[in-house]
Formats: sequence, structure tokens, C-alpha cells
Amino acid sequence: MRKPVVLITGAGGEIGHGLIDRLSGRKERAIVTLDVSPLDSGIAARVDREITGSILDRAVLDRVLSEYRVELVIHLAALLSTRSEFTPVMAHQVNVEGTLNLLEFAQHEAESHGRPVVFIYPSSIAAYGLPSLEAKQKAGRITEDEWAHPTTMYGCNKLYCEQLGTYYARHYKQLAAETAAGKVDFRCVRFPGLISALTVPSGGTSDYAPEMIHAAAKGEPYACFVRPDTRIPFMAMPDGVDALLALAAAPKADLRRTAYNVTGFNPSAEEVRAVVVKAFPGAQITWEVDLKRQRIVDSWPADIDDTAARRDWSFAPRYDFEQGFSEYLIPTIGKRYT
Ligand code: SER
Repeated sequence: MRKPVVLITGAGGEIGHGLIDRLSGRKERAIVTLDVSPLDSGIAARVDREITGSILDRAVLDRVLSEYRVELVIHLAALLSTRSEFTPVMAHQVNVEGTLNLLEFAQHEAESHGRPVVFIYPSSIAAYGLPSLEAKQKAGRITEDEWAHPTTMYGCNKLYCEQLGTYYARHYKQLAAETAAGKVDFRCVRFPGLISALTVPSGGTSDYAPEMIHAAAKGEPYACFVRPDTRIPFMAMPDGVDALLALAAAPKADLRRTAYNVTGFNPSAEEVRAVVVKAFPGAQITWEVDLKRQRIVDSWPADIDDTAARRDWSFAPRYDFEQGFSEYLIPTIGKRYT
């Protein structure tokens, strides 16, 4: 029998780096990646097969379908929120049509092998939309089913694809019961802003925190594009990667939802700055508010409630704000730039 495969789309991105780092030590599944750009040398050598191509190209997906027995799809490819506001139609194509292609791919894969394909999808706090700062302050820590009124193209895409995945899981589950064929086992996390010590994001709106840290480590000045009092949830990348893998491995019977909030800590931008300045005393961080980006983060919650993830699949992040900086970000980033 062919070795089972995990297919990772958007593998060259921020989450992909952390994920490949973690998965390449494991032997149970071969890693096949799909990304529009070639992977950098740090991760390329650690995957079994690298395909450079687009998730919008069905011929590429058909080829993967015929060559591999994919039992897990981790669909990371997307345009992030700031970038998507500049090119909303392209964002819709990549974020929605691309996801539809991958869901169809997973469905065909499940049918042809007669067993479910686990489909892991990273959604985002961008799926939320609070109408005003006052409402944001009052709402505090919110659950998955509150305030799901996204204001950005990216947020709309993410929320819709959560529903689309749930549709595939339900609709084809009924068919599967009738035909005994496989189905898509769709599972999704709503991530807060992710902060990685290894890579710097591009095109996101939560990027001010990682940009501030990386700039300070490099000894470069940084003008933060949001107000000091801006508060949204964040998580250290290793916890984000663990969350995806823990959700993928969870027994199906334990999952009472398809979309789960996960979070680590939620400092204000000023609090991030204070920690960064303490770690890198020469850091020059100023404030230069970009109104469009500010409006986006102001519509995102100040905190999210991840009780359901803790209850159903034992989500337990390793890093709080202090440890995230002192044990992961500062030592790892420091090494990277020296
Ligand atoms: N971090 C992402 C962004 O800022 C949100 O998922 O676009």
C-alpha cells in the first residue's frame, strides 16, 4: 500500500514553516506541499515532494489525486487581510474558490479511497466584526457564535469557508451513509494573530506585533501602524502549529463543533512595545497610525473564548505573554539575527 500523505497548501508561508519543522521529524505520513512559489531551502529539503503551482489550477490537484493517497489536508494558502483589501476580487478567488477546489479534492480523495479525509482549515479572528470600540470593550472575551459579522474581504472569505467546510462534512456525510463512500472530515480553528520567531508575515493586519519584534532584533526603527491602546489576541507560532495537529488527531466523536477559537495572550500594542524595549534596549518604536488598518483591528475582538477547544480536544497553549517572549520569541529571534 502507498504511504499515506499529508498535503499542505501554502506551505511556504508562516504557518507552513512551523508546521513542516514539526512534521518532518515524524515518519507516519509523507509530506507533499503545494505553493505558488518555490519553498526556501530551510524547509524544501524536509518535504517528500514539493509542487510549485496554484490551488486554482485543478489539473495540479488532479495530478496529486492520481499520484497519492492523501489522508490529511492542511489548507493554509490564502491572501491575508490587509492584502485582500487591496485586491478583493483576487482574494475571493484564492481564499474562497481555492478552498472550494481543495474541498472537492478532499471529497474525491475520500471517495476513491473509501475513507474520510481530515481537512484542517485555519480560520481567523477576522471572521468577527465588532461595530465600534465601545462594543469591543463591552464584549470582552467572545465565543465562536457571537459577533460573526466580518468587515473585511478576508474575514468574509474565512467565515464563509468555515460554513462551506461544514456543508461538505454534512452533505457528503449523508451521501456517505448511503453509499458507504468516504467523506471530508472538516475541522477548523479560528486563529488570533500568530507570532513566529522564524518568519515575518506579509499582508496581515496583526503584523504590527511580529514586525515590531523582528525590527527591534535587527536593530531597525519601526513605526507601528496602530494606536498604542489597540488590543487583539495573539499566539506564539509553536502553539498554533500544535493546535492544528492536536485538532487533526482528535477523535471525531469528541468534536462538538467544526470551528474552534484558540488563543494565547492579548496584550495591547503598547504592552508589546514595552516588552520589546526591555528585551532590546536600543529599540526605536514610534506610532504612525494607518487608519484603514486601525479600523480593521478595531473591529476584531479584544479577546476570544477558547473553552470549547480546551474541552473537546484538550487545547492548552504552552506560552502566555511572558513565556512567549522570554522563552520563545526573544531567544529564537535573537539567534536568527546575530
Ligand atoms: N493575522 C491575519 C491577518 O492579519 C488574521 O488571520 O490578516
